[in-house]
Amino acid sequence: MTATSTQAAPSPGLAPAGGPVLDIRNLSTQFPGEDGPVTVVSDVSISVSAGETLAVVGESGSGKTVTFLSSLGLVAKPGRVTGGQVLLEGTDLLKLPQGELRRLRGQRISMVFQDPLSGLNPVFTIGDQIVEVLRAHRRMSFRSAREESIRLLARVHIPDPQRRIDDYPHQFSGGMRQRALIAMAIALAPKVLIADEPTTALDVTVQAQILELLTELRDDTGMALVLITHDLGLVARYAHRVCVMYGGRIAELGALDDVFTAPRHPYTISLFRSIPHLDTPPEAELTPIEGQPPNPAALPPGCAFEPRCFQARGRNDCKTIVPPRFATTKPAHLSACHHWRELGDLSIQT
Ligand SMILES: Nc1ncnc2c1ncn2[C@@H]1O[C@H](COP(=O)(O)OP(=O)(O)O)[C@@H](O)[C@H]1O
Ligand SMILES: [Mg+2]
Repeated sequence: MTATSTQAAPSPGLAPAGGPVLDIRNLSTQFPGEDGPVTVVSDVSISVSAGETLAVVGESGSGKTVTFLSSLGLVAKPGRVTGGQVLLEGTDLLKLPQGELRRLRGQRISMVFQDPLSGLNPVFTIGDQIVEVLRAHRRMSFRSAREESIRLLARVHIPDPQRRIDDYPHQFSGGMRQRALIAMAIALAPKVLIADEPTTALDVTVQAQILELLTELRDDTGMALVLITHDLGLVARYAHRVCVMYGGRIAELGALDDVFTAPRHPYTISLFRSIPHLDTPPEAELTPIEGQPPNPAALPPGCAFEPRCFQARGRNDCKTIVPPRFATTKPAHLSACHHWRELGDLSIQT
């Protein structure tokens, strides 16, 4: 248990009114390491509400993917969820037997990944694969499942779906493959869709089209959308709230405007300065974050960001105490920085 566990009750993700559809509380996940278990997700609490887009950002290795794989019971052995709750409309997914969890995946909550090829089987047609998803979960004749699949392909804007349904994955472009995977992910009308870097492998125009599609589907169905991304431009454009992760923990969480205009964690500021985003003038110089992302097997004893932090300056609390999640000037804007108050006037729009 870390110091932040004391911040648990009752809904630490602070979702807007309406209540969270997915509420992750104090989630921790470990993998075995050479010198014992390594905690790669530590006491993460986030929630997302119907109709909302939550962006999850952070350098590679910060625990974004493992957080959501853990939530779905998909973390590969010997990885192991060591604590927490994952409430989907009130049901704790981590307590469900495997069979029941499998039924809920796809039906109530589903996930799409970065590489659309990895989610598609090259030896079956696109149509076969969507039909299989439908028939695995619903009593449906082959014929009506096929008709539904055509509707789904049309829904994700695949042109000429009656014909393209019989194509194999290799006959689709990267963008179309991602659309087909999204069609499979929404086939059973889930309440939550987790998109893990869904556009990283695609070019810029196609990226925007996929994000427009996800947003449109979110609006049509009222599902909650979790968007894991490196791309702050996409975050600025499409997210309602932002969760910044570092070293397997949440560094900052808040409404998009609050996090972008008044970041309360030095890591958020450094991250925003190091990668381009919508407000970055073309002539602006990007400042890489000095040092390396932390090795989860050897996290610093205090704040994981302390060794790279412009604000810590050797302070003892930063070095020795894992910061809890402080509510900042707004209760729904959380920061895990002992000294967030000192960041008051800094804005990322430099
Ligand atoms: N199967 C695995 N076995 C061991 N360590 C893993 C495994 N998957 C992920 N990790 C480790 O967990 C940490 C978080 O990874 P991940 O969630 O994939 O990061 P992100 O998605 O933010 O890039 C990393 O240090 C990564 O090396
Ligand atoms: Mg990842």
